[in-house]
Amino acid sequence: MNSFNNKKSDVVLESTSDSVLAANGGNLNQIEKQDWVVSDVRDDASADDDQFLKVRESIKPSQLNDLLSALKDTINNKEGRDSKNLVDAKFHVLEVGSAKGFSSVSMASVSQSIRVLSLERDSERVRAARQNIETLSLSERITIKECDASEELKNILSDSFDFAFLDGAKGQYRRHFDELVRIVRKGGTICIDNVNFHREEKRYKTINKRMEEFREYLYQIGASVDIETGFASYTKR
Ligand SMILES: C[S@@+](CC[C@H](N)C(=O)[O-])C[C@H]1O[C@@H](n2cnc3c(N)ncnc32)[C@H](O)[C@@H]1O
Repeated sequence: MNSFNNKKSDVVLESTSDSVLAANGGNLNQIEKQDWVVSDVRDDASADDDQFLKVRESIKPSQLNDLLSALKDTINNKEGRDSKNLVDAKFHVLEVGSAKGFSSVSMASVSQSIRVLSLERDSERVRAARQNIETLSLSERITIKECDASEELKNILSDSFDFAFLDGAKGQYRRHFDELVRIVRKGGTICIDNVNFHREEKRYKTINKRMEEFREYLYQIGASVDIETGFASYTKR
C-alpha cells in the first residue's frame, strides 16, 4: 500500500470510528487491519463510452455524516411506511456502488433493524467487501450482490426500499436515480454522492455534461443539493 492510501485510510477510519465501532461491538483493532480505501475505481461514463481509470476513495467524512443523518431522519420519519410493500419491520437500504463495503457497514451501524442490499459489479471489490463485512459479523444484515446496477435495478419491485444511496458510475447517475425513485417508497430518501463531479480533461466531457444536466434536474424536483460537498438528497413525495 502506498503512502496516499495509508494517509486516506487513517482519515477514513478515524472519522467514522464511532459508527464502525458500534457495528463491531467496540473492537476497533479488528477493523484497522482492513483496507477500506478504494484507490482505483473503474467507472463507466456509460455503456457506450470508453472505460477509464480514476482515483477515488470511499465516501468522505463530511458526506458520510450527511448520509447517516439522512438515514436516521428517514428511520424516525414514519410517513409513508404504511404504503410500502415491505413484509417485515426491517428498514431496507439499497446501495449502488459497494466498493469495499465501507458505506454499507457505516449505514448498517445506525440501527440493528437496517438491512442493506448493495450492488457492485467489480468482482475484486465484491470479494473485499464481503470479507470486511464478515470480519465485522454483519453478513446477516448486509448483502453484496455482484451485478451491473443498470440491469439489476430494473428487476427490483417498486416501493420496496426505505432508503437508497447512489454512489456508482457518475455517467449513469440520472438513469440509476430514476430507477431508485421508483424503487424507494413514498417518504423514503435517496442520497447521492459526488453530484459536483467535474473534470477538466477532454475525456470527461460527456460525464461533465450529464452531471450538469442531472444537477439541474435535482434542483427542478426540489432535491437538497450541497454543491460544495457534492452531497444531495431527495425525499420521495
Ligand atoms: C465510489 S465507489 C463506491 C464507494 C462506496 N459507496 C463507499 O463509500 O465505500 C463506486 C463503486 O461503484 C461501482 N460501480 C460503478 N458502476 C456500477 C454499476 N453500473 N453497477 C454496479 N457497480 C458499479 C464501482 O465498481 C465502484 O466500486
